[in-house]
Amino acid sequence: MDTVLVVDYGAQYAQLIARRVRECHVYSEIVPHDLSVAELAARAPAGIILSGGPRSVYSEGAPRVDPALFELGIPVLGICYGQQAMAQALGGRVARTGTAEFGRTELTATGAPSLLLEGLPDTQTVWMSHNDSVVEAPPGCVVTAATATSPAAVFEDPQRRLFGVQFHPEVAHTPFGLDVLKAFLYQGCDLLPTWTMTSVIASAVEAVRSQVGSERIVCALSGGVDSSVAAALVHRAVGDQLTCVFVDHGLLREGEAEQVEETFRRHLHVDLIHVKAADRFLERLAAVTDPETKRKVIGETFIRVFEEVAHDELEDARFLVQGTLYPDVIESGTRDAARIKSHHNVGGLPEDMSLTLVEPLRNLFKDEVRRVGEELGLPEEIVWRQPFPGPGLAVRIVGEVTSERLALLRAADAIVLEEIRRAGLMREVWQSFAVLPAVHTVGVMGDERTYGYPVVLRAVTSEDAMTADWARLPYEVLERISNRIVNEVPGINRVAYDITSKPPGTIEWE
Ligand code: XMP
Repeated sequence: MDTVLVVDYGAQYAQLIARRVRECHVYSEIVPHDLSVAELAARAPAGIILSGGPRSVYSEGAPRVDPALFELGIPVLGICYGQQAMAQALGGRVARTGTAEFGRTELTATGAPSLLLEGLPDTQTVWMSHNDSVVEAPPGCVVTAATATSPAAVFEDPQRRLFGVQFHPEVAHTPFGLDVLKAFLYQGCDLLPTWTMTSVIASAVEAVRSQVGSERIVCALSGGVDSSVAAALVHRAVGDQLTCVFVDHGLLREGEAEQVEETFRRHLHVDLIHVKAADRFLERLAAVTDPETKRKVIGETFIRVFEEVAHDELEDARFLVQGTLYPDVIESGTRDAARIKSHHNVGGLPEDMSLTLVEPLRNLFKDEVRRVGEELGLPEEIVWRQPFPGPGLAVRIVGEVTSERLALLRAADAIVLEEIRRAGLMREVWQSFAVLPAVHTVGVMGDERTYGYPVVLRAVTSEDAMTADWARLPYEVLERISNRIVNEVPGINRVAYDITSKPPGTIEWE
């Protein structure tokens, strides 16, 4: 498959570039900047993009580009830092012009023939974020556009197929950015827009078939987007060789267990083992109030249950499906990412099962996984499901988890989701849910004083859950949620809205 490699000089820039390239229907992967030219060449990319990054090319230890990269005959596009590092390596000149450019900036074409800017307005708005500028294009390169402070904002050498842009074509604030990327991909690299979700599914199906052969394969379904799409994909590849195990710990939201049954057993005809283990989890959770202990108990119980099923029914399985996504792959290796993962997983799977992993989504971003899910016929409720923690509602009940308290929270939570869905906010809001704190509150209903639980409504916007802001929900939606919960859920007499961002708050309450 034709691949464009994005060399990473600053993770957030590289990911966005790779996603944009894929939006142009060209497959793209991110590689670290310390990969040698020989290693890059060995991967035979159809094109290379050098990403932006936070450094100055003059700062100590700033990553450099090996000039040998430009002798490979592979088209290269340098963006921002990538452009400057490229200019430096090719014999151009980079300098601190004294005027930084941040934000919207006017870019003007010089009139020289341009592959990147062909067909675009002579003057366009672009997004800039830099201190240094290329002040002299490398020998053999023609300057095709400039800004007030960047005399060589765009340079090109169509012969060697080397291109550099000071601005960020990958961000939405550069209105013609995608056109610039397309020009590089389709004209600069001679690529065709053939990477589509249909082709992704076809090649994933092929890959799974050849990896698994005629062996049996297991998937632990959680009801979440990633494991659901991975299971559906593997099922399309190997049908009945796949058995899905759904450990129902009784800590799911209203209707979720039924949805999993409905989708996988009845709709997709997947061999599904639904382990109804709610009682067992509740027993183990009795009197547990410490959040970390709760997570530990749930993780351990999950493994025990899974082990028993595996021992009784899946002994001959050789493979295990895992819904690993591309951002996990990029991040793995950094210690912090690893720590966050283990903190957030339900506790992993039995170590002594010695199953080989099958990870059909490991090259995909989340939005691509959703599109694959839609294409595979999974229902909207699953494909667009909000992230949900492995330990489920247990991390949304402060204090002890009992069946009564679970029932209260589940009923209130269902109202929250229903009203958010009805208001058309499901995709705008990252997560929206109810939390049950461990306090009581006084109220009055009719002529009677009540003494019940409050629930806390939590709704946040976020890109990746690392940071989040509280959602500015319309007052009418807040009002409806509050009225309905207090009227429809006996035992709850008050609703509060959490207006804390992350940091300093977290998304969950625990
Ligand atoms: P916090 O509360 O740390 O949550 O801001 C960040 C994101 O992670 C989710 N979360 C979990 N996901 N297992 C998971 O699979 C967990 O134990 C867990 N705890 C938190 C949370 O819902 C949010 O999206």
